[in-house]
Amino acid sequence: MCGIVGYAGDKKAQPILVDCLKRLEYRGYDSAGLAVVNDGVQVYKSEGEITALETGMPSMEGTVGIAHTRWATQGKPTAENAHPLQGCGGKVAVVHNGIISNFMELKESLTSEGHEFSSETDTEVFAHLVEAEYEDGDLLEAVRRALKRVDGTYAFAVVARGRDEVVAARNESPLVIGLGDGENFLASDVTALLKYTNRMVHVMDGEVVRLTKDSVSIVNAEGAPVVRAPERIAWSLEDAEKGGYPHFMLKEIFEQPAAIHDSLLGRIGTVEGDESFLDDSSFSSVKIVACGTSYNAGLVGKYIIEELAGIPATVQISSEYRYSAAARENPLVVLVTQSGETLDTIAAAREARKRGNHTVAIVNVTGSAITREVDHVIYTRAGPEIGVAATKTFVTQLIALYLLAIELGSKSRTLTAQARRSVVGQLRNLPRAVQDVLNQAETIEAIADKYRDARDMFFIGRNIHYPIAMEAALKTKEISYIHGEGYPAGELKHGPLALLSKDTPVVAIVSRDHTYEKMIGNISEVSARSSPVVAVANDDDTEIGKFADEIIYLRRIPSLFSPVPVIVALQLWAYYLAKARGCPIDKPRNIAKTVTVE
Ligand code: F6R
Repeated sequence: MCGIVGYAGDKKAQPILVDCLKRLEYRGYDSAGLAVVNDGVQVYKSEGEITALETGMPSMEGTVGIAHTRWATQGKPTAENAHPLQGCGGKVAVVHNGIISNFMELKESLTSEGHEFSSETDTEVFAHLVEAEYEDGDLLEAVRRALKRVDGTYAFAVVARGRDEVVAARNESPLVIGLGDGENFLASDVTALLKYTNRMVHVMDGEVVRLTKDSVSIVNAEGAPVVRAPERIAWSLEDAEKGGYPHFMLKEIFEQPAAIHDSLLGRIGTVEGDESFLDDSSFSSVKIVACGTSYNAGLVGKYIIEELAGIPATVQISSEYRYSAAARENPLVVLVTQSGETLDTIAAAREARKRGNHTVAIVNVTGSAITREVDHVIYTRAGPEIGVAATKTFVTQLIALYLLAIELGSKSRTLTAQARRSVVGQLRNLPRAVQDVLNQAETIEAIADKYRDARDMFFIGRNIHYPIAMEAALKTKEISYIHGEGYPAGELKHGPLALLSKDTPVVAIVSRDHTYEKMIGNISEVSARSSPVVAVANDDDTEIGKFADEIIYLRRIPSLFSPVPVIVALQLWAYYLAKARGCPIDKPRNIAKTVTVE
């Protein structure tokens, strides 16, 4: 998991490469480097973030180059293991995102042929392979021949001494071409290139690309030319930048009313006019498959689908689904992934298709890998999300799950026209409900500040709010580094109560519905262990003050829809805890935005 960039134009490549690289930093930031073609191939790299690369970097002349920001998988995060990597002759330089699974055997065979290795990476074998094939001076052919020996996942970009071109290839790692005037670009993600162009061409698996300042050519795995029309990406550069907020995460939290609105746009109206996400088949069950935050969205989706469509739904972690036995029934398989590039989820999509299941992906990134692996796609339309912690993509995943449930419920006739109208009305009110929460940001910050020194924190909820407790715990742990656990409130007494003390705050999601009395009982169990209780409660709850130390009041809406405003309040909770603790909010340690390894 890394970010790669390529440039061929008539401007100095170095500042453009570094600028694009900074926009990819969310993909990994333990080391970085670049290579510029001039008399030879000049390489500069360093350990640490891109700012560390800039410090001490010499000025590099040349108008063609490649660059890389790394999230280590093979080999420690050191300058030696940073990309670009070169073969022993120094004729070519390579950047890579992915994993070469047969690199050990390739390394052995290359070593026996006399190649000397200077890093611990899998990528270096590819540099040696390309260099060995490059004798005839045709870089694209050399790359194609080298690829024949490589197993694994990759987006590679390669430059060679004396060549005014960048050659790139893709297999299961994202790669996009940006088309400019008198210059062309390559990157792992469109957001890296938006400052320079919005005309993009997605590279597909098996394809190899040659980029010069005034031409782009693509060939498929067999070497046949590929013609693909560019797409115009509607995201503006401003969309992809912080817009005045101190962190992308806060900006993205505040964008949620608009994101929900966009997600619903044109999709709910009359039954006949609605966008359809399914074919005409009917499904007797649904299986939702995802990782991390997207998995938590899936858990909420289970409640939504069972309620609105009356169909049983199960949820499974992608990396587990793949190895589980196929169920006897034929479920609709819903893959949830904001990036569309999470390899565990892509592998699960392939497995579902192998099992003969109909597949739907809920995804944010247009044209991402998963969209080519499934029968239908529901785009969440959240816009670019740069903060590593998913926020607006989670909330819009929930919206997509409501939409899917409405369609399933309408098809199965579980949802009457009247019930449907009421659900649609509730969805339309969500942007306002979220805005009400955002208006309370200062109150939430003040409460969070009191608990900034906690080491552990529990989050509890019942029914549809249980997965929201899980998601709040995940957000809290990943950005504030406070150990957070999400639990069904009724489950604390079966073990975790042993961990509670006056130093263990418990955040309780309290809804005035059929779970209310039981939830109050659970809060009392917590208070009896002297744990401070922070309740997220309805604004018409006049009793809660007797049981909780702090209260975040939210306007009451039906429980089926309240996961949306509640999670926004708890995203702010996690954000302000992390801010108070001085954590690097947009780039938490050890994790990256897109996980393209299994
Ligand atoms: C946490 C987070 C991760 C992702 C997970 C799956 O804030 O963002 O847990 O949810 O890595 O990523 P996607 O949704 O891209 O498949």
